[in-house]
Amino acid sequence: MLKPTLPGPKAAELIQRDQAVISPSYPRGYPFVMDHGRGVEVWDVDGNRFLDFSAGIAVVSTGHSHPQVVKAIQEQAEKFIHISSDFYHTKWIELAEKIDQIAPFEEDAVSFMTNSGTEAIESAIKLARYHTKRTEFIGFLGGFHGRTMGAVTFTASKASYHRGFFPLMNGVVHAPFPDPYHPILASSAGEDYGETVVRYIENEILGRILPADAVAGILVEPIQGEGGYIIPPAGFFPALRELCDRHGILLIADEVQAGVGRTGKWWSIEQFGVEPDIFCTAKGIASGMPLGMMVARKSVVTWPRGSHGNTYGGNPISCAASLATLDLIEREYMQNAVAVGEFTLNKLREMQESHPSIGDVRGIGLMIGVEFVSDLMSREPAAKLRDRVVDLAFEEGLLTLGCGRSVIRVSPPLCTTQAEMEEALEIFDRAITRAEEELLPVSLKAL
Ligand SMILES: Cc1ncc(COP(=O)(O)O)c(C=O)c1O
Repeated sequence: MLKPTLPGPKAAELIQRDQAVISPSYPRGYPFVMDHGRGVEVWDVDGNRFLDFSAGIAVVSTGHSHPQVVKAIQEQAEKFIHISSDFYHTKWIELAEKIDQIAPFEEDAVSFMTNSGTEAIESAIKLARYHTKRTEFIGFLGGFHGRTMGAVTFTASKASYHRGFFPLMNGVVHAPFPDPYHPILASSAGEDYGETVVRYIENEILGRILPADAVAGILVEPIQGEGGYIIPPAGFFPALRELCDRHGILLIADEVQAGVGRTGKWWSIEQFGVEPDIFCTAKGIASGMPLGMMVARKSVVTWPRGSHGNTYGGNPISCAASLATLDLIEREYMQNAVAVGEFTLNKLREMQESHPSIGDVRGIGLMIGVEFVSDLMSREPAAKLRDRVVDLAFEEGLLTLGCGRSVIRVSPPLCTTQAEMEEALEIFDRAITRAEEELLPVSLKAL
């Protein structure tokens, strides 16, 4: 049902107050002002109900305010809220033990706890330099790793993340990410496109720019998030792992968006059958409490006491929320992500047949991207149409988020039921129909 007018009066007033006192740098989308949420449902301050398919950017993995997570937070808050990383506490140790059990390593795993994804990436950059005694890195075009100075140097999804902030960190060269829908390199006959990209890294980057023995690490999202929910071809990770092994380069997986059960495995790199040396997680790890982690194979963690730390690392409330989150995901929601994810992919592919603007539907588990194009042959991104679909879906009661040039991400909480998904897809379908009626002829004419 179309909402009367959005934003409603209370939301409009709050947005005005916000604009006076909060940094204008935040990339605000449409005017949703949250009041409360439960599971997949959220309500704004004017009492309008929405289905939250953005999940706070893939963060509320167990849904909004899951009772088990709330209870863990309350119980911990009653005991103590903070102690600092100079000391020890049970929940922090239990969480690191759990991560050791589920880490995608044969070897034991050692965790460094942070407050955010970007801080986890900073920690990985520092550990890679410390351990290898090398200085240089390789990242990927379209990658998103955060906004602090080191992480933002790797981030290459939009130039606006860099504008006004130069000089960035020294020592990062970007390779194309293997995007099968928009390949920008030419493959040899019969070559997997992922292998083509690794050949480019070997010949063009290591051969012409960075001597391999200067490279500390390759930082990569196993499935690109902000860059467009892009799944690399099967040959990519095995070839990348082999290249890293041959040159003593650390493979660093950024699991901040794709990890923690979203793809139906704990870590998205497990979908590709290789082990990283380091991985970073955040977002879904604690259902919305601020927590990130840099996790490494034990033999890589060679830095000594005092070389890296923080005030809030291992915050007890975040650790308690994370333990409850991991329990729920392990017992129930990881399997649900597989089942509801498959249902969603099938439905979206059916929908694709009646919508000429849907160029591609791709995904694993509940990490699904729908790419809008203005022409199916040229695959020209239809950014305006995508933006209009996002706005119309909001008006009809569905929160979604764009990514890439013209993609909408379907990244709901992992507890989303099939019935909730059906309700959301009906809204999505209507929004696409309306956006196509308004914009598709215009974009076709523009070709
Ligand atoms: C893949 C990836 N890495 C890192 C980050 C940065 O995380 P944070 O915003 O918590 O700093 C994000 C955030 O969107 C992300 O998607």
